[in-house]
Amino acid sequence: LEEGKFTVCSVGAGYVGSLTSIILAAQQPNLKVIVCDVNQDLINSWSDQRYPFYEPELDRQFDIAVNQNKNIKFTTKITDAIQESDAIFICVNTPPKKDLISGLGKESDMKYFDLACQTIASMGDPKKHRILIEKSTFQIQLNILGTVPVGTHKRIHGILSQKLSNPDDCYTIVSMPEFLAEGVAIQNLLFPDRIVVGTPTDKNGMETFEVIKGIYSNFQTKFIHVKTASSELGKLFANAMLAQRISSINSMSQLCETTGASVQDLSKIVGSDKRIGQYFLNASPAFGGSCFEKDLQSLVYILESLGQTDQAMYWSQVLHMNQFQKRRLLDMIISEFPNPSETVLTIFGFAFKKNTSDTRMTPIAYFVNGLIEKGFFVRIHDPQANERGFYLEMEMQGFDIAERFNFQFCGSDYNKAVANSNAIIIGTEWDEYITTNYRNIRDQMNQSRALFFDLRSIVDEEPLKYLGFEKVFKLGN
Ligand code: NAD
Ligand code: UGA
Repeated sequence: LEEGKFTVCSVGAGYVGSLTSIILAAQQPNLKVIVCDVNQDLINSWSDQRYPFYEPELDRQFDIAVNQNKNIKFTTKITDAIQESDAIFICVNTPPKKDLISGLGKESDMKYFDLACQTIASMGDPKKHRILIEKSTFQIQLNILGTVPVGTHKRIHGILSQKLSNPDDCYTIVSMPEFLAEGVAIQNLLFPDRIVVGTPTDKNGMETFEVIKGIYSNFQTKFIHVKTASSELGKLFANAMLAQRISSINSMSQLCETTGASVQDLSKIVGSDKRIGQYFLNASPAFGGSCFEKDLQSLVYILESLGQTDQAMYWSQVLHMNQFQKRRLLDMIISEFPNPSETVLTIFGFAFKKNTSDTRMTPIAYFVNGLIEKGFFVRIHDPQANERGFYLEMEMQGFDIAERFNFQFCGSDYNKAVANSNAIIIGTEWDEYITTNYRNIRDQMNQSRALFFDLRSIVDEEPLKYLGFEKVFKLGN
């Protein structure tokens, strides 16, 4: 890449858009990078060098891009950003659509995505051919049963066609799925296992792939160049496979509890088989996050709508197991306390996993709601998740707690969270929940009865029993 000759822009400055752009700017000093978003507060926050969310190791890469390479800017001027760019990443949000009758619907809310594509269409110019890279993933229902669901690239092409008489002269649509996981996103982006590029199979597709390899020339990784449909479906399948591993290990947790086996031992035994691999075998209260459930539903829906019912049933069991695990653990906790209205419970962790402040689709929301509904007083602690995110997520998942007063979000304040509590429930596997001073905590809890539920199996039971916890439940043990 020649210095200052190639500009990429990300439409969307959220997790994917900002992090991908910051890493690109940090790794490729010759590239010009623009991050744009409709959210002025978010752009202000990036421009003022304040991070809008917590992500480990972000500061160093941000510093390289912003202060050292000085090749990144953040703006709300979206059309200007597109105008300046040679390649555009679409990284806007595609949240689950809320269904007024049944709460969360199965579809994604496409209004942000469609609007972004319309803006991009309005900037189409046959004199400046641009690469349009899709990173957003979503699912849509079809009205006419039996029709093949459109791929993302087809939806984009359809929107471009409404404004442009020959969209292919203005844009080449490419699928480059993002595989980053929050909490380890910087490492994932710096050292990706692979970069998947889905393009048309013609000469233009080949040339576009070469340009993309140029954008990523400083990254030590392998490229997988495939046709666009494979790339899109590959992303869906990758998330489905990861989620399936979690449901598989979770499906063994109760069997371990009842037979005296340990689910960690099981993970070790199967994970040390190279063919299986050690990752993604941690039992949990369920998987959460913005994509697993959405992508699995999407896969099930695509299979169903194509009449591939048995395959759809297979993948829907992964979702079923996820739901089952939450219900089983909630019922188990409730069964320990005969008088909910006289019982205070403390939940440790609301983020959907450790090392992120993100709470989207966190499984813990289900526990908070279930316990509040039963009449317990529930206190929630999390080192990074904030109160606003807590309320938004409860609402998003369809849990109406607005009229309830038997809960308190305590942020990172341990004293507030544990005072006179009858139980600690570890929901998120934050490292500090392993090392925190449980002697101090036990001292502040209810003196006559305190229990411990470790839904992430991260703490040793024996020291806790010694501190006077009447019962210590460790998931899968
Ligand atoms: P996010 O909500 O953090 O960020 C999306 C941003 O897009 C928001 O800041 C929003 O204001 C902005 N936006 C909306 N409409 C816009 C428009 N018309 N013009 C400019 N900006 C606009 O979402 P995210 O987590 O970054 O996810 C983005 C997409 O990537 C989603 O489709 C998601 O499914 C997918 N994805 C996410 C992850 C992840 O780990 N978070 C990983 C892979 C893929
Ligand atoms: C996941 C994928 O890992 C990414 O590759 C993908 O890009 C991303 O979804 C996406 O498409 O959005 P993310 O959701 O950020 O990333 O985080 P994960 O580490 O995958 O965790 C997802 C959920 O599974 C969390 O609730 C986590 O606690 C849970 N989990 C994970 C387990 O219960 N057990 C495990 O062994 C691993």
